[in-house]
Amino acid sequence: MTKTQIWSAAFLGIFVILFFLQKFAGTEYGSSPSMGMGAAMPQKQSTETMASSDASGEVLVKQFNCTTCHGVDLQGTNMAPALVGLKSYYDRDKLINYLRNPNAYLEQDRFKEYKDKFKNIVMPAYGNKDVKELGKITDYLLGLN
Ligand code: HEC
Repeated sequence: MTKTQIWSAAFLGIFVILFFLQKFAGTEYGSSPSMGMGAAMPQKQSTETMASSDASGEVLVKQFNCTTCHGVDLQGTNMAPALVGLKSYYDRDKLINYLRNPNAYLEQDRFKEYKDKFKNIVMPAYGNKDVKELGKITDYLLGLN
């Protein structure tokens, strides 16, 4: 090979490498905006917000799967107590608070019984849910006898 040939080969090689580097970087860059949170999250949020404005407390109780543990009619199962007569223990704020942080209430006698009865099942905390939705659930539950 002549010197010229070696130089052109080296040039070509560098070109090929640059081309692939650019292509690689390009795909990474190009794909992140469409896949990333930016595009997907607001859409999801807006569906949830719509659900929150439309769904009643009764529907939300099903959507949040409260019925899985408390029973389809909320009359209790062997996993969780009946959700009836709650208004003798809670007012609206207290019940919303409970749903957001049930562990704060475990010291009450009623909960000690629950703990025996529903071993290994814990009431999940719903602190990450929209407070308005929890409010609707609360209104619904306080209306049950
Ligand atoms: C994984 C099962 C499970 C799910 C899902 C669940 N709970 Fe519970 N819940 C329990 C258990 C078990 C208790 C009894 C207290 C304890 O052990 O923490 C309880 C207790 C409660 C209490 C207190 C009852 C009382 O006598 O003071 C309320 C109110 C309640 N749940 C409402 C709800 C609502 C509303 C939802 C849905 C947003 C829900 N729960 C979802 C298991 C569940």
